[in-house]
Amino acid sequence: MRLEKDIEKILIDQEALQKRTRELAEQITKDYEGKPLTVVATLKGAVLFFSDLVRWIDLPLQLDFMRVSSYGSGTRSSGAVQIIKDLDADVTGRHILIVEDIVDTGNTLAYLYDYLINRGAVSVRICTLLEKTARRERKVNVDYTGFFVPDEFVVGYGLDYAEDYRNLPFVGVLKRSVYEK
Ligand code: IMP
Ligand code: MG
Repeated sequence: MRLEKDIEKILIDQEALQKRTRELAEQITKDYEGKPLTVVATLKGAVLFFSDLVRWIDLPLQLDFMRVSSYGSGTRSSGAVQIIKDLDADVTGRHILIVEDIVDTGNTLAYLYDYLINRGAVSVRICTLLEKTARRERKVNVDYTGFFVPDEFVVGYGLDYAEDYRNLPFVGVLKRSVYEK
């Protein structure tokens, strides 16, 4: 309850998150049958979603992690993307599924997509927990979307505001008073 006091409203509760994550995993299982698959989580926002998702994908697969930054600590994307931590393994000849927390302007994923294709992946697809379409600046083909959310700043289930709130078990709207003070 200490964390919840800063939440305006819950948008997606734990049960809905779990149900949708399993549905996506089932679809991914069908789509990648027989293909060498590497599932790449973007740190840190996607880790809760990623760890729930991969345990329901019923296929042999490898896990890898990247950390990119486009944000700083505010609530607006800066547009410039930087790689802070690269993949550990060679992905030549492998199919990559990027798992992201949220696609907002699209800058991060447009960059990552091109980057991973250039690393020799056979295919690159995107699975995101959340999509905000209101502020899209770059066209990105998102293959799997958990939920569409309105243009409000959301936190929880991996998503942060200035590194806090990632451990909330639901996705909620942050009170404006938290970041406008
Ligand atoms: P994009 O490059 O604008 O698409 O932004 C993607 C990144 O911005 C995400 O991976 C998040 O880290 C962050 N982000 C965008 N919107 C939100 C939000 O509402 N809450 C928390 N993080 C957000
Ligand atoms: Mg983030």
